Amino acid sequence: MKSNGFNKINTAVFISGNGSNLKNLIKFSLSKKSPINIKFVLSDKKNAKGLRFPKLHNINYKIYNFSDKSKVENKIIKDLKKKQIKLICLAGFLKILSKNFIKKFKNEILNIHPSLLPKYKGLNTHKRVIENNEKYTGCTVHVVNAKLDSGKIILQKKIKINKKDNYKSLAKKVLKQEHVLYPRAIKKFLILKKKFYL
Ligand code: GAR
Repeated sequence: MKSNGFNKINTAVFISGNGSNLKNLIKFSLSKKSPINIKFVLSDKKNAKGLRFPKLHNINYKIYNFSDKSKVENKIIKDLKKKQIKLICLAGFLKILSKNFIKKFKNEILNIHPSLLPKYKGLNTHKRVIENNEKYTGCTVHVVNAKLDSGKIILQKKIKINKKDNYKSLAKKVLKQEHVLYPRAIKKFLILKKKFYL
């Protein structure tokens, strides 16, 4: 499959939950000018709601049990290499990948995080942002390195917090912007890597 003269990048998306980012990335991948082809979806949760999207679009998907992390990661590495996956997009994937795994896909893993990194790494970001009376929050797409939520930032979107916002309304607002940001960040990342141009 080609896009702008480039081969579309074989991409895997990792999820744990609702999969609204996955849904959005599938939509993005199906547009003619998209640089990516989503070939595989991985979930660590068998009940992840987001699994309905690969089913709906006939995309290959698999659930992995992370109770033995190094064993399952080795299996995933094998599966992804076999499928010639060149880009991994973490989209609400809540397991922390090991250094070994990240090394195997160096500079090939992106993550979306619901805060203005480097602020509010980790979980429960919106709750902490509200508790700290922040005026702004946002979302970030970054390259995944061995340190949690700390790799090179590709794009960020800043969002104003209103007095009436609570962590639920904030989560909704941020998620809406994530859906705009992630496809843009993927394009930018691939342009920087010279795998795509506009
Ligand atoms: C998104 O807000 C994403 O940024 C966040 O989980 C949500 C998943 O929503 N990710 C993290 O918190 C990672 N630390 P989705 O399943 O609807 O895409």
